[in-house]
Amino acid sequence: MGKVFEMNHPLIKHKLTFIRDKETGAKDFRELVREVSMLMAYEVTRDLPLEDIEIETPIVKTKSQVLSGKKLGIVPILRAGLGMVEGMLNLLPAAKVGHVGLYRDPETLEPVEYYCKLPSDIEERDLIVLDPMLATGGSAKAAITFLKDRGATAIKLMCLIAAPEGIKVIQEAHPDVDIYIAAIDEKLNDHAYIIPGLGDAGDRLFGTK
Ligand code: PRP
Ligand code: URA
Repeated sequence: MGKVFEMNHPLIKHKLTFIRDKETGAKDFRELVREVSMLMAYEVTRDLPLEDIEIETPIVKTKSQVLSGKKLGIVPILRAGLGMVEGMLNLLPAAKVGHVGLYRDPETLEPVEYYCKLPSDIEERDLIVLDPMLATGGSAKAAITFLKDRGATAIKLMCLIAAPEGIKVIQEAHPDVDIYIAAIDEKLNDHAYIIPGLGDAGDRLFGTK
């Protein structure tokens, strides 16, 4: 069973409050999503391997640690996942970025795939799938299946807000995938929106309706 990590950092909680607030406009919303993603990057990379190298400080020679060169990939689910890319790249500038385009059919609520462009070596990379919302879990489940079908073997999922229903779907369908979430909310409403949630993440990021 994949592990679930809910962030408990006060900076994340504070910024999430303003992300949820309906009075927050697209410009501030984008900025806050970028900042929370950057803070979450710190947690999602906690298990990256290190190696010792020798360096010289102005005083002495010493051994010190650097990342051991594990290849990373970040994969936003279009379109709302795009809002999380810049924050991740701020901390992980060497990561490659793949894109998976999915939208949730408003009638059936089933994910419909419309785009895919991935790094050619995804089987060698630790992938972090980005989507602000994990509601029914249908989109993330399909995106992860899609990546596995193309050879991915190491995948984490990072979301801002998740409903318990979506977490269960991912844990059952992809027990090898750990989930990193800024906040776990109460439940879904009748239209499969998260309560209390933040509304439609794509619309709020890009000012559409
Ligand atoms: C939203 C969100 C997730 C999905 C979550 O995308 O960004 O991808 O819904 O819902 P689920 O867990 O029930 O699948 P949407 O389908 O609205 O597309 P968009 O990002 O293009 O707006
Ligand atoms: N997608 C969103 O953007 N928001 C929700 O609450 C659920 C799905």
